[in-house]
Amino acid sequence: MLDLSKTIDEFLEVEQIYRGGIKEIVTKLEILNEQYEVLNDHSLIHSLESRVKAPESIIEKLGRYGFDISLESARKNLTDIAGIRVVTCFISDIYDLAELLLKQDDITLITKKDYVKEPKENGYRSLHLIVSVPVFLADRTEHVPVEIQIRTISMDFWGSLEHLLRYKKGKDIPAKINFELKHCAEIGDALDKRMQRIYEELDKIK
Ligand code: GTP
Ligand code: MG
Repeated sequence: MLDLSKTIDEFLEVEQIYRGGIKEIVTKLEILNEQYEVLNDHSLIHSLESRVKAPESIIEKLGRYGFDISLESARKNLTDIAGIRVVTCFISDIYDLAELLLKQDDITLITKKDYVKEPKENGYRSLHLIVSVPVFLADRTEHVPVEIQIRTISMDFWGSLEHLLRYKKGKDIPAKINFELKHCAEIGDALDKRMQRIYEELDKIK
């Protein structure tokens, strides 16, 4: 029989390590943001949220990809157990922040998906980084993967609402609605680009 209390203890231990990974990255991002605020006219980070993936989402994802359902398998196969979402004001802030983080000595880039330069077919935009960060424990050092999604306010607005609408209705969304959602993403992108131009023009005046 499955020893439930052992499984829960093991899960809590793993969760603690991933929370450590999130804290390490969030601290780095906050320090970069604070320095940027001192030297520049706005914050690189408009808002930030983070989460450790819930056990039911871990099990659902392992099942969806056909992996073993176990903690060991989750640690080996999933790189989004620890997740951070950073919202910026301008498109250029996305790349400035990513560059500042990635050049740090203890950060290793595992994968980068640039859905800002190459949006998904449905219109989704965001820069996705999966990085590995060391978490120093009493008896060892764990290198923890953390997924970081960096996007503007407008990309976040679209992504949050699209997620809400899609999950309400499941996967079967009429083509007309998908088209409409994609159009909304393009309007958001046009707005982001106009705001970027205004920001750069004002920068020249100052
Ligand atoms: P997952 O199995 O969902 O993790 O996808 P993946 O491993 O191919 O990774 P990808 O980088 O494409 O997406 C990871 C995460 O980005 C998702 O869990 C969402 O949080 C977000 N995301 C990706 N595509 C979309 C999308 O079309 N709409 C919204 N709202 N979010 C998305
Ligand atoms: Mg993923």
